[in-house]
Amino acid sequence: MQASIDRLQMQLKEEIAGAKDLNELDNIRVRYLGKKGEITLLIRNMGRLSPEERPLFGRRLNELKAVAETMLEERKKELYSELSVKRWEKERVDITLPGRPFNLGRKHPITMVLEEIEEIFTSMGFKIAEGPEVELDYYNFEALNMPKDHPARDMQDSFYINPGILLRTHTSPVEVRTMEAQAPELPVRIISPGKVYRRDDDITHSPMFHQVEGLVVDKGISLADLKGTLLMFAREMFGKDREIRLRPSFFPFTEPSAEVDISCIACNGKGCRICGETGWLEILGSGMSHPRVLEISGYNPEEVSGYAFGMGVERIAMLKYGIDDIRLFYTNDLRMLSRY
Ligand code: DAH
Repeated sequence: MQASIDRLQMQLKEEIAGAKDLNELDNIRVRYLGKKGEITLLIRNMGRLSPEERPLFGRRLNELKAVAETMLEERKKELYSELSVKRWEKERVDITLPGRPFNLGRKHPITMVLEEIEEIFTSMGFKIAEGPEVELDYYNFEALNMPKDHPARDMQDSFYINPGILLRTHTSPVEVRTMEAQAPELPVRIISPGKVYRRDDDITHSPMFHQVEGLVVDKGISLADLKGTLLMFAREMFGKDREIRLRPSFFPFTEPSAEVDISCIACNGKGCRICGETGWLEILGSGMSHPRVLEISGYNPEEVSGYAFGMGVERIAMLKYGIDDIRLFYTNDLRMLSRY
């Protein structure tokens, strides 16, 4: 009897040692210690032994059961740690590998120039006003002193929704909308950035582009205020050595009107290829608000005066960054966009 229990223990020990995984180990446990397991049955059948044999045999069987449980438990721990070592091996990462680089996004050059223009004018006390891109003929032309058959409309052909509604061709309608909303209160001092649309498409013109309008209305505003403000702007935007000049021009909504040039940023006014040997670069249109525009917008031109200007943001950006094809702004070529 004693000998057969010893043999059983030896056999169990070998089997446990040979268990290759937790599953096999559990099968062994069931075979020996389960409800119908060999050890369980031996214990259960102890009643059949003689009273003399029972105590010795009982102790030995309980011992075997305890040893079996310990051995199973230990092998289980072993198998567990083998398992996690295997898993670590599989999931091993080489922490000395360089990381995968990812690209940082950045602002579009037009956005950057727009924000810079806004910053310069708001620091001088201008407020930002906005208007709709789908605009009434009335605000885009009529109220700006451009009646239906006015030849100035020819330069601003646009996309019409219907005969009375169009995609605005400039930001000037925001002048009228702002004054209408604010009159008779003074001063009016706004810039208006935004998208505008024209039937134009070549290397310096795009069917959609950006403008920033400016308008100041108050008592005693003169051309000197316009010139001083734009000189400040030119120097902030293009460097402190810039000079500006006003060239007589025509716009229906200003009188007198002027094109504003800055001294060439490439040759400083000496004359070069960039400025067509003139020493000057045109950057915007401007003038003193036409009395009719002031009047139609709710101000009395006998009491107040104003100046206005409008600049193309793409043009400013092209000059500032030396870009010669406007389409580069819209084709989303990262090689170009990531340079600015
Ligand atoms: N709206 C004009 C254009 O798009 C630009 C302009 C000229 C705006 C003179 C003004 C101005 O406010 O005074 O061609």
